[in-house]
Amino acid sequence: MTEKQLSELLQDMTVAEKAEQLVQLNGDFYGGEDFLTGPAAAFHLTDNKAYRLGSILGSDGAARLTKLQDEFIKEQPHHIPAMFMADVIHGYKTAFPVPIALGASFDPELVRETAETAAKEASAAGIHVTFSPMADLARDSRWGRCMESFGEDPCLNSKMTAAMVRGFQGENCGDKGRVASCFKHFAAYGAVQSGRDYNVAELSERTLFEDYLLAYEAAVNAGAEMAMTAFNTLDRIPCTISRKLLRDILRDKMGFEGVLISDYNAIGETVIHGAAEDSRDAAEKAINSGVDIDMMSDCYLNNLEELVKSGEVSESLLDEAVMRVLKLKNKLGLFENPYKDASEEEEKQLHCCREHMELSRKAAAECSVLLKNNGILPLRAKKIAVIGSLCESRDIVGSWAIFADNSKTVTLRAALEEVCSDIEFQFIPSDTPDEKAIAAAKSAEAVILALGEDQLGTGESRSRTDISLPEGQKRLFEEISAVNPNTVVLLFGGRPLAIPEIAEKAAAVMELWLPGTAGCLGAADILSGKASPSGRLSMSFPYCSGQLPLSYSAFNTGRPKDNGVKEFIPFLSNYMDAPNIPLYPFGFGLSYTSFEYSPIALDRDILTADGGITASVRVKNTGDRAGKEVVQLYIRDVKGSVVRPLRELKAFKKISLAPGEEQTVSFEITEKMLRFYDINMDHTAEKGSFILYIGPDSTTENRTEFRLV
Ligand code: BGC
Repeated sequence: MTEKQLSELLQDMTVAEKAEQLVQLNGDFYGGEDFLTGPAAAFHLTDNKAYRLGSILGSDGAARLTKLQDEFIKEQPHHIPAMFMADVIHGYKTAFPVPIALGASFDPELVRETAETAAKEASAAGIHVTFSPMADLARDSRWGRCMESFGEDPCLNSKMTAAMVRGFQGENCGDKGRVASCFKHFAAYGAVQSGRDYNVAELSERTLFEDYLLAYEAAVNAGAEMAMTAFNTLDRIPCTISRKLLRDILRDKMGFEGVLISDYNAIGETVIHGAAEDSRDAAEKAINSGVDIDMMSDCYLNNLEELVKSGEVSESLLDEAVMRVLKLKNKLGLFENPYKDASEEEEKQLHCCREHMELSRKAAAECSVLLKNNGILPLRAKKIAVIGSLCESRDIVGSWAIFADNSKTVTLRAALEEVCSDIEFQFIPSDTPDEKAIAAAKSAEAVILALGEDQLGTGESRSRTDISLPEGQKRLFEEISAVNPNTVVLLFGGRPLAIPEIAEKAAAVMELWLPGTAGCLGAADILSGKASPSGRLSMSFPYCSGQLPLSYSAFNTGRPKDNGVKEFIPFLSNYMDAPNIPLYPFGFGLSYTSFEYSPIALDRDILTADGGITASVRVKNTGDRAGKEVVQLYIRDVKGSVVRPLRELKAFKKISLAPGEEQTVSFEITEKMLRFYDINMDHTAEKGSFILYIGPDSTTENRTEFRLV
């Protein structure tokens, strides 16, 4: 449709019809048997109104959605098609590693490719919009949803978020095989206090702008068609009714022109927060703050029409919101082809096809992080006991893989049997030590212990106060490693866990996260040596829960303790019972080979506002295996009008090197990279000295200095 036709359509619509476009209910409202007594009654839906609404969430399948779309077109007086939205977070039928794992790949192109593949599968199943990526910065692994984040760092998070948006949408979300991307949760959901889900977030404005908003802005700049509000309050205002966040920052400052949707019942929950009187008041506050679509509350459904008629909400505001929804439908091509790519034939061809399973396998290999290795990996042992319930579990795919085809999930056992066919395995799927496990460990050359969390132990509403392993698993590790020192720990889960005992005593530790449908094959590729580990931590791994929140990008304080020192020193900023530093730092991960870095070379050491500095290092593979290295660049602004972090990641490159091969890796340093929110909250770079680090992780001491003049 042309813009003119869209405007004419809008003009023809009644206030009630317009309001209906701004309501989204879930699949339970459509065709369920208990519809009239269940959800419909709770929402006072008495007639076929559900079929006149603008969009649905959470339903899938070409057959079902094609049929539903026909109903929508029939019931809606102007025959406006519905949009079908769903949480396609880390894959659709073929699941890829969870986002925290994808962050650890440090490979935006891989992330783009997984999103593109997910979009192909989901669009064939009739889905038009995905509620992804989650751009929330996560620095507290007590929060279960750090699983859905790309991690603790604004630069990494921004690059991955943008890559994912591009992967879903391509050039145009209306193209075949594409879906529109809805980034979330605006804003600062990752900063919920104490890591407790849905809790309040309290951040200084500077920290919000400096760290937390960057990835959302990256999503806007990458062209994301939609945004979702957050459940939490920020500065004691529910984000879903914060004009400052939604109008001043998201729309005006960031220039977001797409459709803004609330999170699930988040408008209704503003009443429970104590920020709105009732659902009518909540609806008025939300629409006036700029929320276009109300997801799963009855606030817009039962109040919006009346609010407009009474003049509390202007019709022009309503029109703006409806126009955004119609424009997105138009961009998706739904007025011409309301089913878009829905095709049962293509579902069969695409879902979990060989190519997608291969990508799931490859992605897991790129995301796994080798944390410790005394030389036992890659495996040479020929008789191995594999212990732990996760070794035979299919619940390792990931907690937002709600549509994944679990019949295709490759368990660790199946993967090891397939990839390492020359090894004799004995599998004991138990999480506590018993005679069988101990005997198997004793008689084997090596043990693989599968520990950590399954997909129900992490994700939304899965916060913990204690991120160490369950007692049974700790005992299992103690008893097994006592009888067999060649114990390799494979860690599953969606968050950094506190594993100091394991780090000390295991022969090797590898973080597999929740690796997706064929992810265990990728892990087996690494264990066998067919692939080399190249993931790097997207979040710091603490020694204990009490260190949280934790980030490498910390501040010096007035009483800093030297990072190398572990012991407590009175009257310095440290703990009596734990070090300041993490067990494994951000950016860290081992390889099967070794890399050597040259000192940093600069083409000049004075930076001006209009010219850049080229910084280069030579990286050499000094081992005898091919491998990938993530070359990371950090900057410290030595002195500012407000205190500056000890270091901040500004750029990274993942490179492949054959044995003995050497490569020069160059980065351009610009004045823009040095900008921050100064004492007056102006975004500017201040003149002075900067320390530049280029190395393998956030603790590198390969450094040099330059000045901005
Ligand atoms: C989550 C969102 C999700 C929505 C729809 C909410 O509970 O916070 O991330 O997109 O449900 O499923």
